[in-house]
Amino acid sequence: MREGTAPVIRRQDYAAPAFWIRRVDLTFDLDAAKTIVASKLHIERNAAVLADGAPQPLVLQGEDINVLRVMAGGESVSFRVEGNLLVIDNPPAGDSFVLEVRNTCNPEKNTQLSGLYTSGGGLFTQCEAEGFRRITYFLDRPDVMAVYTVTLRADRTKYPVLLSNGNLVAQGTLDNGRHFATWHDPFPKPSYLFALVAADLVCREQRITTRAGREHLLQVYVRRGDLGKTEHAMASLVASVVWDEARFGLPLDLERFMVVAVEDFNMGAMENKGLNIFNTKYVLASPATATDDDFAGIESVVGHEYFHNWTGNRITCRDWFQLSLKEGLTVFRDQEFSMDMAGSASARAVKRIQDVLMLRARQFPEDAGAMAHPVRPDSYAAIDNFYTATVYEKGAEVVRMMHTLVGREGFARGITLYFQRHDGQAVTCDDFAQAIADANPGSALGARLDAFKRWYAQAGTPRLQARGHYDAEARRYTLTLTQSALPSPGQPHKQPYVIPVLTALIGHDGRELAAERLLVLDGTSQSFTFEGIDAAPVPSLLRGFSAPVVLDDGLSDAELLVLLAHDSDPFNRWEAGQRLALQRLLRQLQQPAPLDAPFIEAMRGVLRHPTLDPAFKELALVLPSEGYVAEQLERFDPQAIHAARVQLRDALATALHDDWVWAFDTHAVREGYAPTPAQAGRRALVNLALHMLCRHAAHHDDPVWPGRAYQRVKTAGNMTERLGALQALLDTPSPLADAALAHFHAQAGGDALVLDKWFMLQAHAPEPLGADAGRAFARAKALLKHPDFSLKNPNRVRSLVLALCSANPAAFHRADAAGYVLWSEKLLELDAINPQLAARLARVMDRWSALAEPYRSAAREAIARVAVKPDLSDDVREIVTRALEIAA
Ligand code: TRP
Ligand code: ZN
Repeated sequence: MREGTAPVIRRQDYAAPAFWIRRVDLTFDLDAAKTIVASKLHIERNAAVLADGAPQPLVLQGEDINVLRVMAGGESVSFRVEGNLLVIDNPPAGDSFVLEVRNTCNPEKNTQLSGLYTSGGGLFTQCEAEGFRRITYFLDRPDVMAVYTVTLRADRTKYPVLLSNGNLVAQGTLDNGRHFATWHDPFPKPSYLFALVAADLVCREQRITTRAGREHLLQVYVRRGDLGKTEHAMASLVASVVWDEARFGLPLDLERFMVVAVEDFNMGAMENKGLNIFNTKYVLASPATATDDDFAGIESVVGHEYFHNWTGNRITCRDWFQLSLKEGLTVFRDQEFSMDMAGSASARAVKRIQDVLMLRARQFPEDAGAMAHPVRPDSYAAIDNFYTATVYEKGAEVVRMMHTLVGREGFARGITLYFQRHDGQAVTCDDFAQAIADANPGSALGARLDAFKRWYAQAGTPRLQARGHYDAEARRYTLTLTQSALPSPGQPHKQPYVIPVLTALIGHDGRELAAERLLVLDGTSQSFTFEGIDAAPVPSLLRGFSAPVVLDDGLSDAELLVLLAHDSDPFNRWEAGQRLALQRLLRQLQQPAPLDAPFIEAMRGVLRHPTLDPAFKELALVLPSEGYVAEQLERFDPQAIHAARVQLRDALATALHDDWVWAFDTHAVREGYAPTPAQAGRRALVNLALHMLCRHAAHHDDPVWPGRAYQRVKTAGNMTERLGALQALLDTPSPLADAALAHFHAQAGGDALVLDKWFMLQAHAPEPLGADAGRAFARAKALLKHPDFSLKNPNRVRSLVLALCSANPAAFHRADAAGYVLWSEKLLELDAINPQLAARLARVMDRWSALAEPYRSAAREAIARVAVKPDLSDDVREIVTRALEIAA
């Protein structure tokens, strides 16, 4: 397992494999403590590689498994096991041969949750990226694609359900209470898409007929008792199937499509061919246990995994450096799916704002920190560390820019060409971009493809400066766009990006002076002119966030107020409000001051606006996060930022007190619960209002609103309102908070996903300012000893440890370094159990070098203490090493 320091893998070193595996027959004798795997591999020499030189040895990967027997061509063959490799120096001569391997593995001991492992008494697999080698020896790389036939044998009582990829071709009874099932997947696939499940599960079924008239069986498998919480997942799956066929002409290609929920899972979900395996968090929902955000998350993850069936599975990645080929594209597709499902223009914009908030909260800091890497990385030590916001979310933005540059129809043509060319292949990001460009030769992308592809190659977030000049006499507006890019690790100099800038011009009276137009900046600096402009305009730039850049538009408060009041692009309207708020937060850090009347009136105007949607209002009235403020500064003090934000937020609570009361009273949802954007928006605004009113009450020793919040925790008809009320209460000094927490815990009745919320709520609880500071940290730290806490369940770790260390800066970054001590202790404990997850925890220190003192030195010390430990996993070692490399 830990074989010293992992070598660095480089993209430039890619070489085709010396052998292909065309067919795989697997037989599993499943047992939690000792599973026996019999593997029969139909191997073919790769003629292209053979021609280059001497015959190659066959080298297979394996990890934490015991080999029992190896046979080649039906006879025993000599082999060596060297660390994690099985080497056969003299494989049978000829073009092809059959290799048979028998080995065992121990699912019960597999706490990494990669390979074959146990969860809640069942057996599950997770093979992406390199988990298959933890099941049996293989050429475990995505460009080796095979047709799998899989037989599962297991005890019928413990494991009544036996699933694998593809179609069920046989099943029956064996001796000793055992049974078997044989599955065949007709589509060649890389090993990372293999899956099996053996467990005591029940399923919700639905039959659908697609446009082409083909019948399909959809199934969602969960534990007994959870069936009532699968309706939304199934509805989302049906909607996904319909959508992909309607929008991209991509139909379901399997007779049967299965989704299985499992409680112990390292990520959100996995797109195994025909057998998606999901974290329970993205399957199970009822109004009583899941929030509106959870419902939306299920829709988007179910969509994401389903869409992988084409973008990822039918066409897969040549090597792991191309990960964004499938992830960036599939995130783009799931974002579009959620937007199309949302319906109204306003609801679409809300989804776009949420996606950009997430990009800025997670990807921008990544691009500025120790782990900065291109969308298509150049090297890695542990590939699991590169399932990042850059590969996923920035990758999706790169696809979105292509979509913007070639247009919706052009993009659809590009996708069609991509599948014509590459269906059934393992390809590269270049192949994808080439197909989109070739389908649109005359487009804004076609002519600039090479320059555009710098988005794949260069790390860091580009800066875009915009300055306008209005010539009243000539009725001409000239806009000058200039780009620059900061150095990032290994990339001191950057070449100019191709930046699509969707732009309109707005008059100070709100009139549109120039309709939306696509400007494409492809040099360092360019000017664009707008003719026939009657009055000095305010530019509405980068509409819909048309490129993942940091924009400096130099607009004044007055101009931003025009956009906030009038911009017809809802994203930019929101952005204008956020900019106004950000400037005030940054000023507050310099010198505390009361909020100015124009800002307050603008915010009141949004809140009271007659036609804006509640969901939009809620987003506009929440101040930029502490993390986002931190990203604006070269050195940041998390305590100072927290204080500044609390002060301004409380100032808004007070200045708009009557408006919050109005918002609370007039937005209650009276119909039955439905997780629709319209209802969710109302609930979000009511929750914000309640929070503001509780903050106001905190300053005035007023027990009424905390009392109402407490009542809501007890009587709310759904989780969104219950959680919102508890969150508000936890941000007050009210003694009712503890009683409400106890009530919430009791009401959870042991439901794991609800308990996760109970932990997370406390891990996120804002630190009070003043004498009570430290209360949130103390509470979270005490929870590590709670009987319901465990480091073995990733959801629980995310809910408490990761939530505290990554999403509660003022609780975590303490002058006494107690947060960092907790971090290093839990990190080391977790690394011994689950390195993938431990590496995620390690990453919370990514931005340590931008911290102000005393945090900076203390953080570096904590990282250094971890880095010297001799038996770190490769995953954690890569993260802490890179962290210490960035700045001395
Ligand atoms: N490919 C999966 C997705 O994005 C995610 C994934 C990658 C994953 N590696 C994993 C899930 C490891 C669980 C464990 O849809
Ligand atoms: Zn994915």
